Amino acid sequence: MKRILLIVGGGIAAYKACELIRLCRKAEIAVRCVLTKGGEHFVTPMTLAALSEAPVHTSLWDLKDEAEMGHIQLSREADLVVVAPATADMLAKMAAGIADDLATTLLLATDKPVLAAPAMNVRMWEHAATRRNVAQLRADGVAFVGPDQGAMACGEFGEGRLAEPEAILAAIQAQLGGIETAGQLTGKRILVTAGPTHEPIDPVRYIANRSSGRQGYAIAAALAALGAEVTLVSGPVTLPTPRNVHRVDVETAQEMANAVAAALPADAAVMVAAVADWRADASDQKIKKTEGMPTLSLSENPDILAMLAKSPRRPGLLIGFAAETERVVEHATEKRARKGADWIVANDVSGDVMGGEANSIHLVTADGIEHWERMPKADVAKKLAQRIADAL
Ligand code: C5P
Repeated sequence: MKRILLIVGGGIAAYKACELIRLCRKAEIAVRCVLTKGGEHFVTPMTLAALSEAPVHTSLWDLKDEAEMGHIQLSREADLVVVAPATADMLAKMAAGIADDLATTLLLATDKPVLAAPAMNVRMWEHAATRRNVAQLRADGVAFVGPDQGAMACGEFGEGRLAEPEAILAAIQAQLGGIETAGQLTGKRILVTAGPTHEPIDPVRYIANRSSGRQGYAIAAALAALGAEVTLVSGPVTLPTPRNVHRVDVETAQEMANAVAAALPADAAVMVAAVADWRADASDQKIKKTEGMPTLSLSENPDILAMLAKSPRRPGLLIGFAAETERVVEHATEKRARKGADWIVANDVSGDVMGGEANSIHLVTADGIEHWERMPKADVAKKLAQRIADAL
């Protein structure tokens, strides 16, 4: 049986935590509750104890509790820590690492994943301080569910309502499922390339492909989440390094080719980078506009994917990407054969895929073509990572 530690914060939405406990119990998830001082104004320890069929903890300074189970142990015996509702104050303390009551001390002491379900007034949710705290917590690996948009207890309307208990349960189950699959790629070395390359024309100008790096970074993150040892060779992008990923920054295609060679051997390689096809004969000094229109002399860049396919150190599973604007599947099928990749992940970039959040994918393998429904890049990454885990 999976176990969660549920921290119930002080907000009117605390009453929904009661329904959440009931749903968890029905789904055979054991729940142990911690109620904050604020939370006690909205629900009683007795309600939570009756619903969870377990003792409820409220104070850091309870000798009896501490004698039975120390707070460090309490923070670690569950598979997942859930904060619902997570108030603005609670998120601020979590982001800052403040531990001034039982709940915040447990959150600082835990070695388990944390899922937060925020609930607060819309202005508080939109406040720059809360934006900052949420961004920090996401970067620290905290998962979020909600908040929803709608009418609030305070009479205002907007984003800030606690997610419905059913949605929180689904997020809990997804997190618990993720923990179960977490070790699937343990011991596997996987290489990912991402982002564009910049090919200098002179010290201030360059040739590049359009690429935000988001899809490649999401894939590196999803592979690392399954336990793989991931090396991410990245062109110039403005994205934070995903957790547990070893990142090597490069600028040009030639540098990327060298970094890829240095990262071998690998069990699999996912080449997501939008490598510039040509490089210019770069000038050491800035080319002056007053000197008239320059002629660019271009040479072809190494095709890293094709080179890797022919190399004696070819990874067992080699995956290329194909960004196409027309006849997507046809071009991808041809690319798979020409480059010697095992799979080609084809994406239709005719819409707003570049730099956007969603992607529509066709997966071309030796077994045929799969059409994936349009989904967020993070979901494409998770689905692909799972396929890689199955294949390895
Ligand atoms: O030929 P095209 O650029 O469309 O091929 C895309 C695939 O090849 C991607 O997987 C990309 O990362 C890889 N590629 C590469 N080196 C190049 C060009 C593309 O690895 N020079």
